[in-house]
Amino acid sequence: MALPGGVDRLAGKAMDVSDQTLADAWISIGADGCISSLGQMADLTADMLAGHEVVDAAGGDIIPAFCDSHTHIIYAGSREGEFLDKINGLSYEEIARRGGGILNSADRLHSTSEDELYQQAMARALDMIAKGTGAIEVKSGYGLTVEDEVKMLRVAARMRDTLPATVKITFLGAHAVGRAYVGRQGEYVDMLIADMLPAVAAEGLADYVDVFCDRGFFTTEETARILEASASYGLRPKIHANELDCSGGVQVGVEHGAISVDHLERMGAEEIEALRTGTTVATMLPGASFFLGMPYAPARQAVDAGLTVALASDFNPGSSPSGDMRMVWALGCIKMRLTPAEALAACTINGAAAMELGHDMGSIAPGRIASFVITQPVPSLAFIPYAYTTPWIRQVFINGRPIG
Ligand code: NIG
Ligand code: FE
Repeated sequence: MALPGGVDRLAGKAMDVSDQTLADAWISIGADGCISSLGQMADLTADMLAGHEVVDAAGGDIIPAFCDSHTHIIYAGSREGEFLDKINGLSYEEIARRGGGILNSADRLHSTSEDELYQQAMARALDMIAKGTGAIEVKSGYGLTVEDEVKMLRVAARMRDTLPATVKITFLGAHAVGRAYVGRQGEYVDMLIADMLPAVAAEGLADYVDVFCDRGFFTTEETARILEASASYGLRPKIHANELDCSGGVQVGVEHGAISVDHLERMGAEEIEALRTGTTVATMLPGASFFLGMPYAPARQAVDAGLTVALASDFNPGSSPSGDMRMVWALGCIKMRLTPAEALAACTINGAAAMELGHDMGSIAPGRIASFVITQPVPSLAFIPYAYTTPWIRQVFINGRPIG
């Protein structure tokens, strides 16, 4: 997917990148880990090869590494007990109301050391990278006390400093009301604004702020308060919205200049209209719909309406226990009726845009970071999400270096 310079996202019809390919191509990587030039084999001379190590793509394609703009990969243990509850008929909201869900993860996280958390989250991230992901957004939100939110964000910062992939960090103190505040949601929001935000800002631990703005979680008024307070610390929003209801989350996000609004399973004409007015990326998480048996976000309508649509994994222990963007790409096609090329744009450059990385990642162009996947020989791009369990990754490069 080669793109003209300057582009950091693709909206609407432009997401069909099927003609943005170069046959029989080479790319050259500079010492800085960025793509220095690219062209066609017929134009490659011996001089140009001098001083370069050569890697043969052996008939495979080169596609940008996935840019997964929404994950919760810092969590302790797992929640397959709730998986059984779901099989037995309980909904995500019922499990949360019984004190399971996010609070279950918060309890586990509280009793897990920072080092252990780091080890668990790193294993998930390294597995994601092996599956083709080159940029990852990581959220807090299983701490829900000042100490534990800061603990999570320190783990995230350590991951950013040690992973080969690019990492962006989001403070999600408003994921649920912490146990000590159950029944006192307003006081929790007060505490978040008075205590958590300053602590997070003092250590410079987050790039963005998130709120789970939805039925049964945080209201639009609470969300607006948190986003306004966060803005004074320079934290721009990327929020959870419209997963469980048409809750006004999209509108409150757009009004506060959100980089992205995410989930969007319940979205109608009004939300689409609100998103047409700004630069907020519409991020959809088909893995959560798949796992929870929810409706899929209306990606087809959103693309047809000209929006910038991104797809992300939502990797978390409750609603999407997988960070495999190969599956997300396939679900984008199979369940959301995006074409393979549109869904690839959603998983790459538009995911990058949802992390303010669109000028650096998510496309194959000179000056961009050389994070890409060499595929096995495939009959066409469409074959990849079509034959969705056939292994197709030959080699992953991150920042110009082969992984594994
Ligand atoms: O994006 N919806 C809110 N948060 C996560 C789920 C978190 C959990 O269940 O642990 C999500 O789906
Ligand atoms: Fe999420």
